[in-house]
Amino acid sequence: MNVIEIISTLTEIQARSDRMRRQGKTIVLVPTMGFLHEGHLSLMREGKSHGNDLVVSIFVNPAQFGPGEDLETYPRDLDRDLDLVRKEGVDAVFVPDVHEIYGDRFQTYVELEKLPNHLCGNSRPVFFKGIATVVAKLFNIVKPHVAVFGQKDYQQLVIIRQMVRDLNFDITVIGSPTVREPDGLAMSSRNTYLTPGQRVSALSLCQSLINAQALLESGVRDAAEIIDSATDRIRSHPDTEIDYIAVCDPETLVDVKTIDRPVRMALAVKVGKARLIDNMLLKP
Ligand code: PAF
Repeated sequence: MNVIEIISTLTEIQARSDRMRRQGKTIVLVPTMGFLHEGHLSLMREGKSHGNDLVVSIFVNPAQFGPGEDLETYPRDLDRDLDLVRKEGVDAVFVPDVHEIYGDRFQTYVELEKLPNHLCGNSRPVFFKGIATVVAKLFNIVKPHVAVFGQKDYQQLVIIRQMVRDLNFDITVIGSPTVREPDGLAMSSRNTYLTPGQRVSALSLCQSLINAQALLESGVRDAAEIIDSATDRIRSHPDTEIDYIAVCDPETLVDVKTIDRPVRMALAVKVGKARLIDNMLLKP
């Protein structure tokens, strides 16, 4: 197992990144909120193929949680996370505390005008402002050449790509495919909230997406029909409460009515107390 640097201060991680850059290393950042699972590990494996200095950040970012959301109860297990990253051959882990990131009198945020007004942004008003802000800060702090994000958080990925373009970050953003349990459930730290019964209900998310592609292949082109079918399927399972089901343009996230080109189908459903999301590219 390799020796891993565990760093919690801005000055140390910035100095380390400067040193790595001087040595000609390509720094890859995998930002996470910890409680790592196979999905995060796949981002690290993907990251390894894009550079030779792999940094993982672990920070539960308060700015992306709204009032009444699960900031306090968000699962955390740093010892277990550190064991996992060691096995993945990560070079450094950045584990700051909240004060290190937001300091005193913090007041500068990154906010996008249009992309957050769709999908998760409708029910989580501060979410993407918090994400864009912390990711911009992590980019300035860790100074990576490459950053890897999961496609499971599709809207987050689109927003970060847009922010990188708009603010001229000299960083390549990689979107890594969603990792699923053997039965299809997208991996998520929040899956730990599910009871065994809710775990079965949660499968209706990915089954709805697979069924949507099958409907498309059978000739259905009307997005509303596909959304209705997914709604019926999910509602037929106990403990489910749909936040949204959308069929949208993969880049602008604007709703699509007639599917005559590849589209993203995305959904968010509360299963018990876990708010779960999933998405898939649908191709006519
Ligand atoms: O995807 C996540 O885990 C978080 O939103 C991120 C990108 C680490 C920002 O806090």
